[in-house]
Order: sequence, then structure tokens, then C-alpha cells
Amino acid sequence: MSPTTATTLHWGILGPGRIAPRLVRAVAACARGELTAVASRDAGRATDFAARHGIARSFGSYDDLLASPEVDVVYISLPNHLHAEWTIRALEAGKHVLCEKPLALSVDQVDEIVAVSERTGRIAVEGFMYVHHPQILRAVELARSGALGRLELVNGSFSFFLSYPDDPRIDPTKGGGSLWDVGCYPVTFARRIADEMPDRVAAFARFDERGVDRTFIGQLRFPGGVLAQFDSGFAAPDRERLEVVGSDATLVMGSPFLPEPEGPPPTLTLWRGRDATPVAVASVDQYAAEVDDLTAAILDGTSPRMGLDFSRGTIATLVDLDDAARINAGLPRRRPTSGLT
Ligand SMILES: NC(=O)c1ccc[n+]([C@@H]2O[C@H](COP(=O)([O-])OP(=O)(O)OC[C@H]3O[C@@H](n4cnc5c(N)ncnc54)[C@H](OP(=O)(O)O)[C@@H]3O)[C@@H](O)[C@H]2O)c1
Repeated sequence: MSPTTATTLHWGILGPGRIAPRLVRAVAACARGELTAVASRDAGRATDFAARHGIARSFGSYDDLLASPEVDVVYISLPNHLHAEWTIRALEAGKHVLCEKPLALSVDQVDEIVAVSERTGRIAVEGFMYVHHPQILRAVELARSGALGRLELVNGSFSFFLSYPDDPRIDPTKGGGSLWDVGCYPVTFARRIADEMPDRVAAFARFDERGVDRTFIGQLRFPGGVLAQFDSGFAAPDRERLEVVGSDATLVMGSPFLPEPEGPPPTLTLWRGRDATPVAVASVDQYAAEVDDLTAAILDGTSPRMGLDFSRGTIATLVDLDDAARINAGLPRRRPTSGLT
């Protein structure tokens, strides 16, 4: 992607839900960004959100925002089943896109996004904000530098209690399930550490009566030798943790996915036997770092950290894990197979 001559990007939000205020704060912190518009299916909701956050324009339909020449980049914070569709529509409207994770629910959808992105010359990236945090960049650097010895194992957990009965995250028609909501975090981390696609996966899950997983455990084998395992869930108290185990040392992260930008610096600890060495990392707003990364890709022509190729591999892996757990539970597959493993 060649750089543009613009100096400021104008952002618009589709879906003013729970996560959208994070993006408001992130764009406000970006020297080369301005939040210009928000769209809701309900005009009143859009107006309220705009008034609360000092946004100049509000729209009562997503299409109207996409038609606005005042918007360069669209942030898509809709339920999972709408991600691919609105990413494609935004690209077709000439916008760049930051779409919340997971970018899509099938590899075919990612392939369509890639094709439209190439045809329109617009960039689409998947919103895994945590990969932009210095603690993750440092962890990947340490693991790949050989500081842990030969890489053996990645362990990850991400769970919380989901207590809203009508939440799209527990709706099987809206891409629900803990794997797709939070399991995708440790899965993407393991892929970043191994730096390749897994060649085998295994999984078990507890599914509810509608076939949505409430607790999920998965395993990945990478051709280079790294093994990974993770759990995710909607039925246990807040837990998040990552561990990278090497032949010489183990790196442990206590808040790898949602470290508080205003809180104490995240804990990154290097264990050699019983000796623990803290690894210093800064506290940052990882959503702002995510916005900066896409801004640089659009304005300066740099490569986005979460390229579509990586996202394609993520979706293929999630589909395979989902299939594996369903087969083990005697349930039919929910989505087309990835065709990759
Ligand atoms: N990166 C992160 O830290 C993070 C954190 C939380 C969530 N997420 C991701 O962000 C996305 C949104 O999550 P959220 O927690 O903000 O969700 P949410 O509060 O449920 O908001 C989603 C928004 O989507 C719109 N929408 C459009 N069609 C809908 C439908 N059929 N059902 C329900 N809502 C619909 C609604 O806005 P209108 O009706 O007003 O248009 C709603 O406000 C999800 O994909 C999730 O995975 C990311």
C-alpha cells in the first residue's frame, strides 16, 4: 500500500455498543486521527452516543455513514456474524477498516475480504488490540530470540462470567461461543510465538442447549515442534494468563489481554527454576497503539501488524478447533470446514 497525501484520518464507528468508547478514547489520543461520525440502527442511539462523546455527525443507518465523504476509516464493533459483511461493504465504499475480532466466521469470508481490499486499494485489519501492547511485543521478541531456550509449550487462559441472557456472544446465529469471543486471544498468541500454522488441533467443550460453547479447551501442534494449549469460557470468574515455556526459562504474563492503561505496569516474569526476574514493560493504552498501527499503514505505507494473511490463518484455526470440539461432543459441524488442515 502506498502512503496517501492526507495528514489526518477521519474515523466513523458502526455499532455504539460496550466496546466502542475504547475506540473513542484511542482515536482522541492519536495525533493523526479524528472521530467524525457514529452510526447505529437506531438514530436516537447514535445521537446519544455522539452527544456523550463529542462526535460531530451521527447516522441512523450504517449505510448512511459509509456513504459519507467525511469518513476515511470505519471501526466495526458489531456482533461477530456481521463483521465480514460490513468490512466488505465499508471497503466497497472506499473506506479503510478496523474490524473487531474475529474478522470473519469462515475462511471463504476472509478470502472475499482480501479480494475486495486488493481491488479497492483499501486496508482492512482485525482488531486484536492486545498484540500492540509492549508486553506482547517483548514476549514474542524474547521467545524468538532464544532467551527461553528451545520453545516447548504455550499455555493460555481467558474466561469471564457472561450474565446477559440476550447477549449476541451466546447466540448461535450470531457467531456465539467462548472460543470465538475470548479463546481466539490465546490461539493468536500461540500462532505468533510459533510463527507458523498448526498442523493438528484437538478440542473439547461444554456446549449449552443451543450448541454454544460455554467452556472450551483446545490444543495445537505446530510443525516446528511447539505445542500449545488453552482454555476459554463464559462460566468462570475473570481469568487471563499466558505462559511461554522454553527449555531454559518460562515467561509468565498475569494480564496479557486486558492490562489497564492507567494501572500498574503489567507483570511479565521470567522464571529460571525458582528464580524469578521481572521484565519491565510500559503501561499503554493498547487500543491507541492499535489505532496508531493502522494509521501508519494508511498514511505512511507501513505493513499493519495484523495482516489479512495472519487473520486468514486465525479463522482457519478457529474453524478447525470448533469442528474438533463439536465432533467430540457428537454435534454436527456448525460452519464449512477450513480446508487447511
Ligand atoms: N477488542 C476488545 O477489547 C473487545 C472487547 C469487547 C468486545 N469486542 C468485540 O467487539 C464486538 C462488539 O462487542 P460489544 O461488546 O461492544 O457488543 P454490544 O455491546 O452487544 O454492541 C454491539 C453493537 O452492534 C449493533 N448491532 C447490530 N446488529 C446487531 C444485532 N443483530 N444484535 C445485537 N447488536 C447488533 C448494536 O448497535 P446498534 O443497534 O445501536 O446499531 C450494538 O450496540 C464483538 O465482535 C466483540 O467480539 C472486542
